[in-house]
Amino acid sequence: MEPMVWLNGSLKPLSEATIGVYDLSLLRGYGIYEGLAAHDGEPFRFHDHWQRFGRSAATLDLALPYAEGEVLLAMRDVVRANAPHGRATIRMILTGGTAEGGIVHVRGREVLYLLAEPMAPYPAPWYEQGARAITHEHRRVLPEFKTIDYIAAVRLQPKLRETGAAEAIYVSEGCALECTGSNLFAVKDEVIITPAEGMLHGITRNVTLELARAAGMKVEERTLPLSELLSSDEAFITSSFKDIVPLASVDDTPIPSPGPITRNLMARFAQYANGFRN
Ligand SMILES: Cc1ncc(COP(=O)(O)O)c(C=O)c1O
Repeated sequence: MEPMVWLNGSLKPLSEATIGVYDLSLLRGYGIYEGLAAHDGEPFRFHDHWQRFGRSAATLDLALPYAEGEVLLAMRDVVRANAPHGRATIRMILTGGTAEGGIVHVRGREVLYLLAEPMAPYPAPWYEQGARAITHEHRRVLPEFKTIDYIAAVRLQPKLRETGAAEAIYVSEGCALECTGSNLFAVKDEVIITPAEGMLHGITRNVTLELARAAGMKVEERTLPLSELLSSDEAFITSSFKDIVPLASVDDTPIPSPGPITRNLMARFAQYANGFRN
């Protein structure tokens, strides 16, 4: 059956869900997006994603054409149409809309659309033994926001495939920031450390921090020098599409994996996410 797409107010077959060739997202890379997980039809932490979407939209002066409640209902519809059971992957995209003179954004022309598909599971050994990560010198433009500029991430895909790495860690001025599509954590002497700026405040990151604090674990949100990451007791990455993935190495440096704190957080996260309702 043909996948269904929700586009500016209606659910339509993929082949009919089109965006204009003068859209600013295509002409100038001007747009924002969110990636969410759904568990048995229910989007995970929708409100958090909506708030972050709103902050990204405001930064680009994009108008949100629909209200939060309407989009939650639309999202449930698109998940029901494409992947009602088990784990699904949702993308919510807001484009700049048809450009004036090829470059000017006109408020009110934005296009909002939603995609959902069954999640293709990541390799089990990543979760059981830990995944490999590589490093890459980079810092995203507007790193606190989720714009559609993923040029560095797309260019890194062949290298990830070649090295068998799950992620590339962006490093800037000697500090580890985040990965192409995940946040980064290190554990040293039972303290959980995660970068505080120069990165996206991931929803999975925030939930992981909530669960860690609720369990009485020590947490530090601060600068994370790469040298400290490489000598950590444990390391892991988090994202909506992968949850928590332990890291077994960064470039050629092995990291003990998965360590007890990572395992503990993986179990807490799975329990929390499985029963989640908005
Ligand atoms: C650059 C970047 N950092 C971090 C994340 C993780 O964020 P979240 O947990 O909200 O998926 C993502 C997710 O796609 C991302 O693209």
